[in-house]
Amino acid sequence: MGKARSVYICQQCGYSQSQWGGKCPNCDTWNSLVESVVESGVKSGGKNREAGKTYSIHEIVIDEKKRILTGENELDSVLGGGLVPGMVILLAGEPGIGKSTLLTQVAILNKRVLYVCGEESPTQVTLRIKRLAGVGFSKLQNDLILFESTNADEIVAKIREIKPTLVIVDSIQTLTTDELTGVAGSVGQVRETASKLTEIGKYLGIPILLVGHVTKEGTMAGPRVLEHLVDTVLWFEGERGQALRLVRAVKNRFGPTDQVGVFEMGERGLVGVDNPSQLLLAERVVNVPGSIVSVVMEGKRPLLVEIQALTVDSSSPMPRRVGTGVDMARLQMLVAILMKRADLHLGGVDIFVNVTGGIKLADRGIDLAICLAIASAFLNRAIDPQVAAVGEVGLLGEVRKVTQLELRVKEAKKLGYRVASAESGKSVAAAIAKMLER
Ligand code: TYD
Ligand code: MG
Repeated sequence: MGKARSVYICQQCGYSQSQWGGKCPNCDTWNSLVESVVESGVKSGGKNREAGKTYSIHEIVIDEKKRILTGENELDSVLGGGLVPGMVILLAGEPGIGKSTLLTQVAILNKRVLYVCGEESPTQVTLRIKRLAGVGFSKLQNDLILFESTNADEIVAKIREIKPTLVIVDSIQTLTTDELTGVAGSVGQVRETASKLTEIGKYLGIPILLVGHVTKEGTMAGPRVLEHLVDTVLWFEGERGQALRLVRAVKNRFGPTDQVGVFEMGERGLVGVDNPSQLLLAERVVNVPGSIVSVVMEGKRPLLVEIQALTVDSSSPMPRRVGTGVDMARLQMLVAILMKRADLHLGGVDIFVNVTGGIKLADRGIDLAICLAIASAFLNRAIDPQVAAVGEVGLLGEVRKVTQLELRVKEAKKLGYRVASAESGKSVAAAIAKMLER
């Protein structure tokens, strides 16, 4: 190897430059540039394409048949119909959410998988495999190779040597390359090791699945430096204490980004859920004030969820507004709208709003349901349990139409719910009056 050279890599955004400069020119953060030593002659993140070549679209052959099914149907549909040769996927999620479980299942279902154990020992992985496969190891019909390594160069060499059909790396934050200083999980290491794996995956046409941990705040530990490097980013969501898990494609070079896979975590690992709405409403208690159903869109999928609210007299001069699974700023806004436009005197009460099942909702179609749940709790009157409220609420107190209403109505009907939407009440005050007979 040749002469070493220093680069400065920003720990916030991954920007790199050859000079040290106090402040990162890209993200404007002070003292975030950290020195990393790169041996000369090492290319950073190159891809094995024929540089400088031009193509006519007639020369490009798109072969959909080349897709490889992982065997986990929910995962395959999120990917857009399975894996593509050379595809690099980042599976990101909080620790303990089920990333290793899902990828172990994929490893069991496929032939000649190279499973890189960076985080757990091969013994731990084997215990999980045995438990998930539900059979003695000798009976397990596959040729899974566990490889204990945290060295990216060693892993690349192993991939070259055994040419597996699929590589699973758990996790990217444990890998290092000798060509960089800096600890595992630092921006430089995460980026460089991922780029080495990407390069070999593309070159040999082997799909690679990388596990990446994110913090509670939703950022990758070691910032989101990988998102632009990989082909597909899957987010694994859910609450650890709850069974429901969502896998969402937030970036996908080989398929749609509006697909969501739904799983239930249980004794037998992650099992795909065909009817998540039923699961989400299974424990619903009816005829109690403060509960209503809404229909949200998770990608292309309509989901029935229960929104619960509780209001209690506050002893604080600054009453609390607490939301679980809903956007806090949105909740504050809806409370203000209810006070101003629907004449609800919420100034002296603490308000708690909860989406059951532990899912986080970003769909504005739940606005009306949140408003009705709060009004129902505050007025201490239960809402007809068979009604599902769908609608965005504006600052003027108006209820607005939402996208894909037909799909939502259809899903609601399937489970015996009637949808109340923008058609049935022009304002949130009118909807409250109608549903709570105020
Ligand atoms: P894991 O896949 O190790 O999470 P991650 O890799 O994202 O950190 O999942 C850990 C949790 O899942 C752990 O609390 C145990 C639970 N679990 C089950 O409930 N059932 C199972 O079959 C397995 C394998 C794990
Ligand atoms: Mg894990």
